[in-house]
Amino acid sequence: MIGARLEGMLDGGPVFEPGSVWLVGAGPGDPGYLTVNAIRALQQADTVLHDALIDDRILDLARPEAHRIFSGKRAGIHSIDQAALCARMVDLARSGQRVLRLKGGDPMVFGRGGEEMLRLAEAEIPFRIIPGVTAGLAAMAVASIPATLRDVNRAVVFATGHAAPDTDETDWAALAALGQPLVLYMALRRIDGIARELIAGGLPPATPLAVISSATRPDEEILISSLGAVAEDRQRYNIEPPAIVVVGDIVKTRERLLRVAPAFAGAIA
Ligand SMILES: C[S@@+](CC[C@H](N)C(=O)[O-])C[C@H]1O[C@@H](n2cnc3c(N)ncnc32)[C@H](O)[C@@H]1O
Repeated sequence: MIGARLEGMLDGGPVFEPGSVWLVGAGPGDPGYLTVNAIRALQQADTVLHDALIDDRILDLARPEAHRIFSGKRAGIHSIDQAALCARMVDLARSGQRVLRLKGGDPMVFGRGGEEMLRLAEAEIPFRIIPGVTAGLAAMAVASIPATLRDVNRAVVFATGHAAPDTDETDWAALAALGQPLVLYMALRRIDGIARELIAGGLPPATPLAVISSATRPDEEILISSLGAVAEDRQRYNIEPPAIVVVGDIVKTRERLLRVAPAFAGAIA
């Protein structure tokens, strides 16, 4: 019954026209976070250009005859050639292919989806954006840390710890002064310096901090620390990227949950 209903949903929705590009979010890792529209895209695409760390069970939803092209960063190689990748997408679309650019998380959150969309528009290639569950939200959810809580915060800041080489450094003191939770992408390798700058910007060293690594994947890990202790804790527990770092009192909600309902300890430890 549910199978027929799902099939009905998969049959409807937007049609992937030949000569167009869809920028699609694959979610944080676990295929369970894939959207129905992402599956529709996989089932219609002629070529799938995909990032690293996309689960094979997701890639296997593409049509068997679809051409799969790895377009992510490989270990040891700093970055892929973004201009060449965009040129390839444009060429494939101009040759009449349905081109699916499959990215981890959400394509428009620190994922270069914005640049790719602008390039496609310049080349007059029709495109569509299919959002995905971004790692920041997924990581907070698996750690039982809400993005917003009425008595704690009224805003939430998503920031990158790894600014593009030709852009200004992030003003960490300005972010500290906001007094709102910070959700940091690509920040783990530089977290010691970032924590120092946030403390210099006025946040107390005791400010709670969570590192959530490989959220929703089988090797998921959660480290609860503080701005003052994270440098030591991250070495001691050897936590590795990909990780989201959450900074702020919102992290205490996890402890609060344990106090309210200790039975949850097993579920969130
Ligand atoms: C280039 S950004 C891409 C973000 C992606 N577009 C999104 O919306 O999640 C890569 C960063 O996302 C974070 N990330 C991606 N997947 C993650 C996961 N499963 N668990 C924790 N962090 C993750 C890490 O901070 C990683 O360095």
